[in-house]
Amino acid sequence: MAKHEIINTLKIGFIGVGNLGQAVMKAFIDSGVVSRENIRIANRTERKLERVAAEFQVRSVPTNEQLIDECDVVILGIKPQDLYQAIEPISSSFHSDHVVMSLAAGVSLSSLQKLIPSAEKILRVMPNTAAKIRRSVTAYAATPKCQPILPWIEELLGTMGVVVPVEDGEMMQSLTVAASSGIGFLYELMIYWKEWLEERGIDSDTAKKITVQTFAGAAAMAEIAPDTSLDELQRKVTSLKGVTAAGLDSMRELEIERTLRISFEKASMRDKELGQNFNK
Ligand SMILES: NC(=O)c1ccc[n+]([C@@H]2O[C@H](COP(=O)([O-])OP(=O)(O)OC[C@H]3O[C@@H](n4cnc5c(N)ncnc54)[C@H](OP(=O)(O)O)[C@@H]3O)[C@@H](O)[C@H]2O)c1
Repeated sequence: MAKHEIINTLKIGFIGVGNLGQAVMKAFIDSGVVSRENIRIANRTERKLERVAAEFQVRSVPTNEQLIDECDVVILGIKPQDLYQAIEPISSSFHSDHVVMSLAAGVSLSSLQKLIPSAEKILRVMPNTAAKIRRSVTAYAATPKCQPILPWIEELLGTMGVVVPVEDGEMMQSLTVAASSGIGFLYELMIYWKEWLEERGIDSDTAKKITVQTFAGAAAMAEIAPDTSLDELQRKVTSLKGVTAAGLDSMRELEIERTLRISFEKASMRDKELGQNFNK
């Protein structure tokens, strides 16, 4: 059976349809790879559950247990601090044929295996919110029993954008920081960019447009030149002793790289902390 045919035979359920759960579901549906009829959702707050079910035209299920019963693939879109409480009491509802995908930041594969011992095919999946426009970088780590199903898993995750298989642990943590939190970090830079333009008399809307287009242009040029290094691309826009060179010299003197590195490390530590709290 072709990969998309396998996916078509599966019922896919989301426990927790917050920001990320909805982004993932949107990518599944928009790609045409998953049909709405095959999706089930459950959520703690009923009002949100019904709103999301109506918006996405998918079927809501009143309890997490019922969702597990009805689905072949169960996606855990719950925050790490709520995950144990939500899943531990119903963990025996899972059986060895279930495919469980956890989106929870910081929660390791081994913690998930301890939490759901009856499931054998467990994946830790880390997309970013660009999943909703199908431009996510999605890292995943999987238990060995997932090996035979990885072709269709990658097809499914590929609906969100680029898929990167990683080892659980430091590699997953780095992807979480650089790609998931990374979206937030880039917005921080974009805010400075925009404010600088505004301080120089450019109205807010135009300043935002200029900022967004500059970031998008840089990313797009890198994207269409996969064989050109980022250093080379930078060299191409930097003439000797020119304007760009002056700015770059200052950035290097001020050790922007060091600042970013420290911030990335702090974020990594928080990711570790979240995982440790979960294990307690
Ligand atoms: N946002 C990101 O960019 C991003 C990126 C990568 C990974 N993640 C991970 O994705 C997960 C979700 O994050 P988020 O930003 O989507 O959070 P969120 O918007 O707060 O969504 C979490 C959802 O889980 C629901 N929930 C909580 N306890 C539940 C339970 N016992 N049963 C059923 N549903 C329950 C919540 O319901 P109510 O609030 O409606 O009660 C909420 O809708 C987190 O683990 C986070 O670490 C997020």
